[in-house]
Amino acid sequence: MGSKLVMWNVLGTNAFLFLLLFSWFSSVTASVTYDDKAIIINGQRRILISGSIHYPRSTPEMWPDLIQKAKDGGLDVIQTYVFWNGHEPSQGNYYFQDRYDLVGFIKLVKAAGLYVHLRIGPYVCAEWNFGGFPVWLKYIPGMSFRTDNEPFKAEMKKFTNKIVDMMKAERLFESQGGPIIMSQIENEYGPVEYEVGDTAKAYTKWAAEMAVGLGTGVPWVMCKQDDAPDPIINTCNDFYCDWFSPNKAYKPKMWTENWTGWFTEFGGAVPYRPAEDVAFSVARFIQKGGSFVNYYMYHGGTNFGRTAGGPFIATSYDYDAPIDEYGLLRQPKWGHLRDLHKAIKLCELALVSVNPTVTSLGNNQEAHVFKSKSGACAAFLANYDSNSFATVSFGNMNYNLPPWSISILPDCKNTVFNTARVGAQSAQMKMTQVTDLGFSWQSYNEEITSDSDSSFTVAGLQEQINTTRDSTDYLWYMTDVKIDPNEGFLNNGQYPVLTVMSAGHALHVFINSELSGTAYGSLENPKLTFSESVKLRAGINKISLLSLSVGLPNVGIHFETWNAGVLGPVTLNGLNEGTRDLSWQNWSYKIGLKGEDLRLHTVTGSSSVEWVQGSQVAQKQPLTWYKAIFNAPAGNEPLALDMNSMGKGQIWINGQSIGRHWPAYKASGTCGGCSYAGYYKETKCQSNCGEASQRWYHVPRSWLNPTGNLLVVFEEWGGDPTGISLGSRTVASVCADIFEGQPTHTSFQMQASGKVQGPLRPKAHLWCAPGQKISSIKFASFGTPQGVCGSFQEGSCHAHKSYNAFEKHSEAAACIPLHQKNGNTQSRCPKETILTIFTSEKHVSSNVGNPST
Ligand code: GAL
Repeated sequence: MGSKLVMWNVLGTNAFLFLLLFSWFSSVTASVTYDDKAIIINGQRRILISGSIHYPRSTPEMWPDLIQKAKDGGLDVIQTYVFWNGHEPSQGNYYFQDRYDLVGFIKLVKAAGLYVHLRIGPYVCAEWNFGGFPVWLKYIPGMSFRTDNEPFKAEMKKFTNKIVDMMKAERLFESQGGPIIMSQIENEYGPVEYEVGDTAKAYTKWAAEMAVGLGTGVPWVMCKQDDAPDPIINTCNDFYCDWFSPNKAYKPKMWTENWTGWFTEFGGAVPYRPAEDVAFSVARFIQKGGSFVNYYMYHGGTNFGRTAGGPFIATSYDYDAPIDEYGLLRQPKWGHLRDLHKAIKLCELALVSVNPTVTSLGNNQEAHVFKSKSGACAAFLANYDSNSFATVSFGNMNYNLPPWSISILPDCKNTVFNTARVGAQSAQMKMTQVTDLGFSWQSYNEEITSDSDSSFTVAGLQEQINTTRDSTDYLWYMTDVKIDPNEGFLNNGQYPVLTVMSAGHALHVFINSELSGTAYGSLENPKLTFSESVKLRAGINKISLLSLSVGLPNVGIHFETWNAGVLGPVTLNGLNEGTRDLSWQNWSYKIGLKGEDLRLHTVTGSSSVEWVQGSQVAQKQPLTWYKAIFNAPAGNEPLALDMNSMGKGQIWINGQSIGRHWPAYKASGTCGGCSYAGYYKETKCQSNCGEASQRWYHVPRSWLNPTGNLLVVFEEWGGDPTGISLGSRTVASVCADIFEGQPTHTSFQMQASGKVQGPLRPKAHLWCAPGQKISSIKFASFGTPQGVCGSFQEGSCHAHKSYNAFEKHSEAAACIPLHQKNGNTQSRCPKETILTIFTSEKHVSSNVGNPST
């Protein structure tokens, strides 16, 4: 540090250049560097498997278990964004507590022995409100986001600096003995640069120099940014990245976002991505020399509070990730990828030593062979055909490759893993209603009034975000309309049509305090038009428009220009005079709800008003607050609220926001069967069509007290609160497949020498969740069974003796305790059980069901 300062005086204007070189040099000599093959940690090239877990999308109580499950799944690295608007809620006021305890999260990753990839951004996208930008940034004079703009750069630099300084102070960079091996500046800026041109290029250069100048001692990446300046590594984000090459021959081939599924939007179907295809994409990347793969997301979690971006991003950010929203393993995805990672790690030495030799094995088949001078040899045999099996000959042997699959041979001879052969068990999950818990509801009506401190009157229509500064989803627009007693419609009953044009995102229209109608947009088109006849009467009528934002957009350019709310025109059509334009008359505004001002979601706030109970409780009534007190259910299973009987609104427990609910927005899309084979995109495999995009809302256990928990729901549309229930999430059935002649890595043994020994007899393991036991074997078929876990059927070929394997090994049908962890009640699997079925037969599919606690 001292020498840097001295040199600054000596070098004058060249000092910056020197600092850059110095930083580059120090990163080369520090413990994390890179070359064309891989990231090098303490002198060793590494194949690194990484997974995204965003700390504010779960609770600190969940973190240790999530991190441990990531480690057990074969991950080396946890990747996270840093969420600026969570950390700097108002300018200069920082927050690093609770779900935003970034240092605490990183220290837990370190304690688990994993590395961290810290994507500081500070623009993050991530389906996060405003892409992570604090909304106050927008009101700094002259602000223009993500471009060569002084006010923006000053704030971006300040925050990036703040985070880097914090990490340094805690000695969290690898160069200081910490777990952070890499950082990221900006996020997918390449496409923006392409659109914006020269000013964007200048910003890229500035961002790169600013980041490198911070001297973290570990490499920086810029994702989706082909022109990332040296020494920054440009990386790939996509469903497949085998096609990708970094912009310099001396940079490693890295994949920062392999999307394990996709996000859910309110109104959209729920996307999923088959495990076989995720595994195939990874194997395909590694066989082409890739050395870093990050799963985005490994645990998606929940958009608590008003953190969801969009607009219209759902509260659940489950993402079909290997660990589900609730922190439970998603099987077979988690297990299949764990098996893949083991297979890849068996090849690591060969992979980091040489470039592969690629040979064609057929029209659509290839071998990628890594043969190092030291004798290590690993081969990947690929079948890109999405319809047909292929038998290929490689070495002196024949190999059978399922469609759209890659076999991994860590010794260039034995297949230990094929991406389309799932050896891991699958699990079917269920939500069980917590029975002894009936909510006793009370209700309180939100008033429609302009009579409040936060109200004001101006001529014309105001933009919503500039008015609320995103302090709330809600903005009232209220005006009076005078109807002459001579209006024709008063006699003929042909009511006039009110047309309201809004920039989004949703709108409830009240005429004289009665809900007249609702309109809303979608992620694709947040704009909306309400156009319906409205019941007006002679004299003064009150038109009250409740305009809602449903998360601010998180992607695009010129964030400072984005609009929401009723921008007009607002017209009444069908009067004697024809059309009356209401846009420029006086409008009164109220920011937020009365119940928000009263803080009805909190214990003290909720006791400040009188609630109605019993038969008086509002039903199907718009703008209603509901509350109920309940005790925490026994057990450790994750909990969720079933909101299917409700419309749209927000939920709180003990003052903590569970998020927005919107089960009335039904999922549109194409659902139905989906093959793992062939190129995936986010609309290929979907579920929930015609049902709520999101029915269940995660209630973290740690937010509950043993007794007397306050549940508050604000309902905008009108719903039936008696339909709300609490469910606990558990495994319903577990299943496993075994394929003849297709051993999995579990049927191989690694010898101390590193040699692979096998294959042993194929075997399947069936695991129960802690506290559960296997209660019955529901289905077994040696043949060609059809269906999926939970709904198997015999296929055209089925051996009648299929159940014999289980009967012969009757001890197999009992759950055997697997491991006990030092009496630690926090341990992951205190009563984990395992059922192992050995078979030498052809294709056994077993579905072991009804685990009971
Ligand atoms: C990427 C972006 C991520 C996330 C993802 C979609 O383009 O970098 O932050 O938004 O798309 O889930």
